[in-house]
Amino acid sequence: MNKTYKSAAALLVLVLAVQMPAMAAGEWLMDTLNDAYFWLVMMGIVLLGVALFAVNHAFNTISKQFAKPKSAEEAAAEEVKPTGILAALTDATPVEKEADILLDHDYDGIKELDNNLPPWWKWGFYISIVYAVVYLLIYHVFNIVPSSSERWENEMASAQEQIDRYMATAANLIDENSVTLLEDEGRLKNGKKIYDLNCVACHAADGGGLVGPNLTDEYWIHGGSINSVFAVIKNGVIEKGMIPWKTQLSPAEMQDVASYVLTLQGTTPANPKAAEGEKYVPEAPEAAADEDSTDVENAEGEASEEESASEEGTEVALVTP
Ligand code: HEC
Repeated sequence: MNKTYKSAAALLVLVLAVQMPAMAAGEWLMDTLNDAYFWLVMMGIVLLGVALFAVNHAFNTISKQFAKPKSAEEAAAEEVKPTGILAALTDATPVEKEADILLDHDYDGIKELDNNLPPWWKWGFYISIVYAVVYLLIYHVFNIVPSSSERWENEMASAQEQIDRYMATAANLIDENSVTLLEDEGRLKNGKKIYDLNCVACHAADGGGLVGPNLTDEYWIHGGSINSVFAVIKNGVIEKGMIPWKTQLSPAEMQDVASYVLTLQGTTPANPKAAEGEKYVPEAPEAAADEDSTDVENAEGEASEEESASEEGTEVALVTP
């Protein structure tokens, strides 16, 4: 009995020894327990243990066969005190001793032995009680290890972080085909900063144009869509003196400055350079389909009146808000 308690105590210590690092290591342990390889290795170890036990058992049995025959007394003494792991685990009563534990009732010839509960079973029971207490304390009282719902939330948060990080780099994957006109104030501000730093020398601070063309009018040499403007900024027009910026600005920065350049549309620069290139009319398929031909003519007529007015030097202050 004493021996049984000792073994049980040893097992409890083992369970606690496993639980203690669990308290300290929390997340790490959860990751390990969720790892399939960990369980494969554990299964391997258990199988190896079973195999070793079987080999040991077989070896003992064989060696007993070859041992010198014992006297009847010695043999009896040995039978009375079964040893070995199996005996410790089962606490089985040898057949010769069964008379001692036979209960004195008889149900139609069926008799009952008052065997002890097998120690392996009892230990499992005690350990599960201790485990329940430890589990309760770890997960629900002291919250040392995050619960599954908390872990779910943590994982969702870190996934969101990854998405954000990806989206940040995705902004740098845009090119002249996928670029869109930005309206975000922060990014337009950044566009202005880039413009003031890099473009003023040739296009003037207000976009009126110096060496480079006027960026405030509706006339564009290379097209006035966000895609065209982005493409010119990216690839430049080297033979005409417009630098390709793709090596110095990130795609996101070029998108910022391209969007900023388009906000200059319709503003009135101090010394506007004469219009160059073609007038750019934004594509508005739905609106155009609704209008009839006379309306379009009228709109163009108004535009050309404004154009001639500005050529005569009249301030077109009405255009600016
Ligand atoms: C060294 C002078 C120089 C600098 C600096 C410069 N540009 Fe230009 N840019 C030009 C010239 C010259 C052209 C006209 C190219 C042509 O005629 O094809 C031009 C054309 C352009 C066009 C096309 C205009 C059109 O009518 O199609 C855009 C848009 C433009 N530049 C934006 C920028 C931006 C944004 C920057 C700053 C990042 C910048 N440029 C910096 C000289 C410059």
